[in-house]
Amino acid sequence: MAAGASYKMIKGEGDYHLYVPLFLVGSAAAGYSFFTRQQSTGIQIPSSPKIAEPWNWGRKAGHQQEVTPFDLEGILSEVRKTPAKEQGDIVHGTNGSYLLQEQLSEGGPFGIVYRGQEINSGLDVAVKINDKYLDHLKGYLRAVEAVTNIAKYNHEGAKNILPVIEAIQQELALVTPYSHIGTLGMRIRRRVRLSPAKTAVIASDLCDALAATHAAGVLHRDVKPANILLRRNREKEEALLFDYDASLCERTEQLEQVGYAPGTTVYQAPEAHDDNVELKPTLDIYSAGISIYEMLTGDIPFNGDEIVILTHHQLTPLPKHPAIPKPFMPVLEKACAKDPEDRHQSAAELKEDVLQVARKL
Ligand SMILES: Nc1ncnc2c1ncn2[C@@H]1O[C@H](COP(=O)(O)OP(=O)(O)O)[C@@H](O)[C@H]1O
Ligand SMILES: [Mg+2]
Repeated sequence: MAAGASYKMIKGEGDYHLYVPLFLVGSAAAGYSFFTRQQSTGIQIPSSPKIAEPWNWGRKAGHQQEVTPFDLEGILSEVRKTPAKEQGDIVHGTNGSYLLQEQLSEGGPFGIVYRGQEINSGLDVAVKINDKYLDHLKGYLRAVEAVTNIAKYNHEGAKNILPVIEAIQQELALVTPYSHIGTLGMRIRRRVRLSPAKTAVIASDLCDALAATHAAGVLHRDVKPANILLRRNREKEEALLFDYDASLCERTEQLEQVGYAPGTTVYQAPEAHDDNVELKPTLDIYSAGISIYEMLTGDIPFNGDEIVILTHHQLTPLPKHPAIPKPFMPVLEKACAKDPEDRHQSAAELKEDVLQVARKL
């Protein structure tokens, strides 16, 4: 136990991306094991979700993952020599050179996101730079690899994963196409709630993205509206899943100090905190269910202190809400069942249910 480690709150995109003090302990190789402690009460919840072979989980025959090992030690020694990037700097990659413009994120545990522009083509991009917690580099780069590889699969759902323009190892930068619309999280805050029809369209895109992710043997582990980007594609608006940073997150000393644990409690399934449960795609299905609930109602089902929310997810049935059309409720209840076995077992199954309900409305 990392006694005496500092406590810190980390804020993401303004909303629930907030972490209580945590101590991460245990073996990174075997999965994770950590304690959550609420600052005010000091209550501890032992917790160590295990992810068996995160790289191999659920991989289907024929899905050959091309993994080029990164020269981590080499990158680390180089990167540590260079000062942190900031607004106005140019980041050089192989596909272009990107001028860092205004900061888009407050800076989560994995770094700061800037709006950027490729200086020759003028292409608008988003550049996420992980120069804050270098120890996290390994997990970060593996996540980048995972996303890039998911997109490479010939899976229909890859269309709903935010493409990566390039991952610049030397700069610790991930470059993606910029969306002027922003995230679903921003949309919900602005418009309060979405119509059931619009919800079904976005939920269907999200399920496609998750199907591709799971087929690639990866769990996202932080599905929430703030990690769903909206983009206009011709006349249609589409939703793209992004921010795979939590999916392969490993324990590191620096993350331990800042108290980061993968995921966001507000959207997190009960088993995310269970010692003995092997995490499966049903983990993401649960968070998708909570996200759909939020799209329909403009609100999250469980509010309160971190520990209160966590307990609700474990014990309290999903509350009914006047904005949820009656036929939608059983679908949400199934997606958000406490027991992973009772949920939709695949993203495709959830999508089918959502679309079936939407057709009847
Ligand atoms: N491609 C993009 N287009 C537009 N905005 C983006 C893009 N990528 C990230 N952002 C903005 O930056 C925020 C943080 O990005 P994210 O990768 O989720 O980092 P964090 O680790 O802080 O959650 C997003 O919520 C969004 O507002
Ligand atoms: Mg995010």
